[in-house]
Amino acid sequence: MRHIVVLNEKGGSGKSTLATNIASYFATEGAAVALADYDSQRSSLDWLERRPDNRVKIAGVAGFEDGLRHAPRSADIIVIDAPARTRGPELVDLIKHAETIVVPVLPSPIDMQAASNFLRGLKEVPKIAKKNAKIGVVANRVRENTLIYEDLDEYLTKARVPYIAALRDAQNYVRAYTRGIGIFELPEYMAWPDWYEWEPLTAWLRTKRSQP
Ligand SMILES: Nc1ncnc2c1ncn2[C@@H]1O[C@H](COP(=O)(O)OP(=O)(O)OP(=O)(O)O)[C@@H](O)[C@H]1O
Ligand SMILES: [Mg+2]
Repeated sequence: MRHIVVLNEKGGSGKSTLATNIASYFATEGAAVALADYDSQRSSLDWLERRPDNRVKIAGVAGFEDGLRHAPRSADIIVIDAPARTRGPELVDLIKHAETIVVPVLPSPIDMQAASNFLRGLKEVPKIAKKNAKIGVVANRVRENTLIYEDLDEYLTKARVPYIAALRDAQNYVRAYTRGIGIFELPEYMAWPDWYEWEPLTAWLRTKRSQP
């Protein structure tokens, strides 16, 4: 069983958006997926409640209540949607089983500074320091050809963490969330630019272990 945690101390960076889409991606690829929501805001569980019956099933786990105790043992992949402000012992506990950590970052100076502090702290967690989990940063809600995106691009390229993908700011994410599906479940004519942007991220997620 693999554990993929979507994490960033900063609120609103796209953790739930990425967690639901990662869950939908693996589910549509045929894996047995559980989505564990550790945030009492329940964004991921609300998304699952909206999920139409005819879509491939994803199990919901109320992680904020009792962790992974009720996670289905048959799951191939558990995607964990972390709450904002996760730090200290809570952070260590959350990434205990994870071998893959995805950190979404928004292209704003405040978010970039916060992400840089967060990533520095994350790298000091013994498990990460021993390279027992891989971390990937995803630029989220980017609008290309804007100055601030170039700053984020430069910052992420320089930061010594793998910068995996840049995802545009798109209504498709909002549309998909509202319908309880992922962008991979939207029609191709509508979502192909997003599928294309996700390719490096899904390729990275598919490879297990070892720091890239
Ligand atoms: N790539 C995107 N394009 C357009 N809207 C997006 C994108 N990513 C996230 N959003 C929107 O931004 C808002 C915040 O995203 P989300 O809820 O995923 O962040 P979060 O990190 O889970 O927030 P919180 O810290 O509150 O849990 C939501 O309204 C979501 O629909
Ligand atoms: Mg969230």
